[in-house]
Amino acid sequence: MRKQIVAGNWKMNNDLSQTESLISELTNKKQTSNAEVMIAPTFTNLYKAFEALRETSIEVIAQNMHFAENGAYTGEISASMLKSVGVNTVILGHSERREYFNETDELLAKKVDAALENQMRIIFCFGEVLADRKSGNQEKVVESQIKNALFHLDAAAFKNIVLAYEPVWAIGTGETASPEQAQDMHAFIRKTLANKYGKDVANNMSILYGGSVKPNNAKEIFSKPDVDGGLIGGAALNADDFFAIVNAF
Ligand code: PGA
Repeated sequence: MRKQIVAGNWKMNNDLSQTESLISELTNKKQTSNAEVMIAPTFTNLYKAFEALRETSIEVIAQNMHFAENGAYTGEISASMLKSVGVNTVILGHSERREYFNETDELLAKKVDAALENQMRIIFCFGEVLADRKSGNQEKVVESQIKNALFHLDAAAFKNIVLAYEPVWAIGTGETASPEQAQDMHAFIRKTLANKYGKDVANNMSILYGGSVKPNNAKEIFSKPDVDGGLIGGAALNADDFFAIVNAF
């Protein structure tokens, strides 16, 4: 059985006291689904979040990391630094990193390797922009993003990878891919994996959808057979909304 996962990407939101209060609200919520639950606060609040959640089933994950182990990379954070504060999972390839920080497939391949060498789990994000969708190129774009950053890996590496399809035109816009559009793309992604690595890898891969998932649309999106959960931005900043999504399975 594939894992169902709901991960909250807090992006650059919540200072220390806001982090503490949102976490205390989250710990008071009742989970009725079997989904794995994760939150990704900013770097400065990771350790505090890890300490506050260590007795719970909510995992604290990071939004990004550098590929180098250490050295002259001012402002950056390495995999081993994340691990030293209790973080074992990292989001890589988010479209905001690609767009505002020029992260290329080539750079992401290096980050993927560094995370795996450090025994970290990766939530690897990709997705087409609106122009690609309008011109019908979404599958080509998604396939090349996956191939360029991941297809140098061996099949065993995929045990530590979760994929997140996030159409850029649906992130933070209030516009969601329809459940059918999400399903079609997730099925295509699974087929792409099966062609390269075989059915086992493909069928065991959790593929999350991200892009304006809210309490009122999560159930329908998660009901699609190839959608194994969600990467949640805006709605993850509100404990009621986030848990409504966690419990939408
Ligand atoms: P959103 O963000 O839910 O606010 O659209 C999703 C994401 O960026 O992961």
